[in-house]
Amino acid sequence: MPDLSFSTAAGRWARMGPYYAMFPIPFVSEVIRLFAKPRNIVIDPFCGRGTVPFIAMTNGIMAIAADINPVAWIYSKTKTDPHPSLDEVKRRIEQIREAVTPHDYQAEHEFQELAFCPDVLAFINTSRRELDWHKCRLDRTVAAFLIQHLHDKIGHGLSNQMRHSRAMSPGYCIRWWRNKGFDRPPEIEAHTFLKRRADWRYAKGIVGTKRIPRPSIGLGSARNSLPESAFPAELVLTSPPYCNVTNYRSDNWLRLWALDEGPSLPDWNPDQKFTDPENYRNMLSDCFRSTQERSYEQTVWYIRSDARLQTKEIITETLDGLLPDHRSYENPAPYQSATQTALYGDRNTKPGEIDLLYMPKRKRRRGFTRGFAIA
Ligand SMILES: C[S@@+](CC[C@H](N)C(=O)[O-])C[C@H]1O[C@@H](n2cnc3c(N)ncnc32)[C@H](O)[C@@H]1O
Repeated sequence: MPDLSFSTAAGRWARMGPYYAMFPIPFVSEVIRLFAKPRNIVIDPFCGRGTVPFIAMTNGIMAIAADINPVAWIYSKTKTDPHPSLDEVKRRIEQIREAVTPHDYQAEHEFQELAFCPDVLAFINTSRRELDWHKCRLDRTVAAFLIQHLHDKIGHGLSNQMRHSRAMSPGYCIRWWRNKGFDRPPEIEAHTFLKRRADWRYAKGIVGTKRIPRPSIGLGSARNSLPESAFPAELVLTSPPYCNVTNYRSDNWLRLWALDEGPSLPDWNPDQKFTDPENYRNMLSDCFRSTQERSYEQTVWYIRSDARLQTKEIITETLDGLLPDHRSYENPAPYQSATQTALYGDRNTKPGEIDLLYMPKRKRRRGFTRGFAIA
């Protein structure tokens, strides 16, 4: 396993992308160490900020992945395949600054006035118009730096005092800023700030791939956007969204707006929560089926699930149907202490999670299932 401290390129790029409910990096390293070998393929159909493809890549393992959320996709693509030239990234940041027009300084509403100083707001508005992050790797790398630092504690990001991992509702933020005396956003030069953050991220270089292709990561539903693979995968390692819990758009409303992928105020539509169990079941079933089409009968499936009954039942029913020749195991209290969201300052107690392991019956080996009970 490579060194993932901040003194290495892998350590710096691995941590790119604050994302709610992200996998702890040591957990992913451990599962990949146990179940995959160099040149194997790992699939994560719900890859979030891309820890599975990234850790696979740094271990010489190929990966395919998908995520429907552009924020997740930009982080995943950039950390596994950033633009190789820091100078080019900084030049592009400078070009965005030069493309600012007077109109870009105008706040649309009170939230924007209090969240960002005029220079930052103008930089974001110009990026929304100029960055072709879908198609262009250089623009995607700049967009990744913009959303990485869009909101955070004062001094750490481009915004007034905010959480890093998720954006709260605008009304809540306005009340909080006014009550606590944060009624002016900090004066920041966006381009200088972002270039400095890029210097830090690139300071140890970018991560090589040990002669394997870089991970192939689709933007869109795993139903139809999971990339094709020349060979089937040996390991599926993933965590699907949970039933009746966010679909990750509302937590990311501000970053989605900065990417020109959402409105400047969130709509809190309950559809964003997988409230309908049947829709949830269909989504899972389709996404897991397309994952199965890219795997072997002998593939190991390792799924982190919400422990609450409804999500767990729907996931296990779906997988029991798809994998009748696998034996299933459960481990109810995995790696609960050091979650990445806690590291980013989210001290909320999270609903319990449970790990579900589907082992092909013939593949069972001593040690693989330590800590797991037969389901
Ligand atoms: C629990 S999170 C995964 C977090 C990830 N393990 C990480 O470390 O960041 C679930 C992810 O599923 C994504 N998602 C929801 N529906 C999807 C779909 N139909 N296809 C692909 N991704 C989807 C969400 O955008 C979210 O990023």
